Amino acid sequence: MASRIRVGIAGTGAYVPERVVSNDWFEEILDTNDEWIVQRTGIRERRFAAEDEATSDLCVHAAEEALRNAGITADELDLIIVATISPDFQLPSTAVLVQDRLGATKAGAFDVVAACSGFVTALHTGEAFIAAGRARRVLVIGAETLSRFLNFEDRGSCIIFGDGAGAAVLMPHGECGQGEILRTSLGADGSGYEFIHMPGGGTRLPATVETVQANKHKIALKGRETFKFAVQRMSSLIREFMEDHEPEELGLIVPHQVNRRIIDAALDRLDMTDEKVLVNIQKYGNTSAASVPVALHEAVTQDRCIPGKLVVLVAFGAGLTWGGTLIRW
Ligand code: COA
Repeated sequence: MASRIRVGIAGTGAYVPERVVSNDWFEEILDTNDEWIVQRTGIRERRFAAEDEATSDLCVHAAEEALRNAGITADELDLIIVATISPDFQLPSTAVLVQDRLGATKAGAFDVVAACSGFVTALHTGEAFIAAGRARRVLVIGAETLSRFLNFEDRGSCIIFGDGAGAAVLMPHGECGQGEILRTSLGADGSGYEFIHMPGGGTRLPATVETVQANKHKIALKGRETFKFAVQRMSSLIREFMEDHEPEELGLIVPHQVNRRIIDAALDRLDMTDEKVLVNIQKYGNTSAASVPVALHEAVTQDRCIPGKLVVLVAFGAGLTWGGTLIRW
């Protein structure tokens, strides 16, 4: 059997919509305030897509930047994987729309649905294709326009989420010489599916006038239950990845931007400070599948991914799902 091909992250990109929505905006429509939102979540503002902007539009911006940074063109891609829970359409996938818009004429394309763990799930899928010799250049995107699925009558959920997209181009490590994926981990516990879900619009509860009126097509969240799960998963994934490495080898942790308090509580459990952790939740809120790649791109542009050091991606969310990636930058 041929040996596995080592895979690297050749380039990253990100895009957030122009419209900035501050916490004050919610004060106009709900019984909430800036102080509560900042204290309980760390979020100060988030981005909402324009009316004529959908998830594939966000994807294309992020993808073009990632391709430029990887030094390749779209027609060199073998595969495009989009992670999203807010696709343009129920059918077909968002990935095929991106494939067409980019002119990726030689690429296959599909979506993955793993909510906030979507990007790491797509990253592992792309890595596996290259490692097995089934593809050489894979574009992986995490993108959401969750503003379309928020229940603006529910103050416990709508203040958390935002829109955005992040992308990464994968290729054999021998060709790009950076960001080698050393280890991946994925997990799921579907018994918690009701903690974060959109009950309507699928085969379980098809759309009717009544389901629309009852907000069944919007995100329903049990925040407190998710909170505990997120702290536990974030800390256990980091511990698992670092068990074979010295603490000095760690360059940066890029966690899913779920809630500032969740990140702090997980670091507390690990006896770590936030010095080596990228946090940008104050600017974008929780952008689900876009959260990790947007933060990773920010880390790259700020030179926080140090060559030779470890970068740990960790994500967790609806499903329940979780996953992590250990990278030698
Ligand atoms: N403004 C003001 N008060 C609010 C509020 C808001 N936006 N949202 C909730 N509250 C109130 C609640 O009604 C409750 O009031 P009560 O005590 O009178 O009943 C009180 O604040 C505490 O609510 P609770 O749900 O316990 O707050 P919390 O500290 O757990 O914070 C979340 C709520 C949602 C911010 C937090 O649980 C969270 O971030 N969870 C993770 C959610 C997530 O992002 N999941 C998705 C993927 S992992």
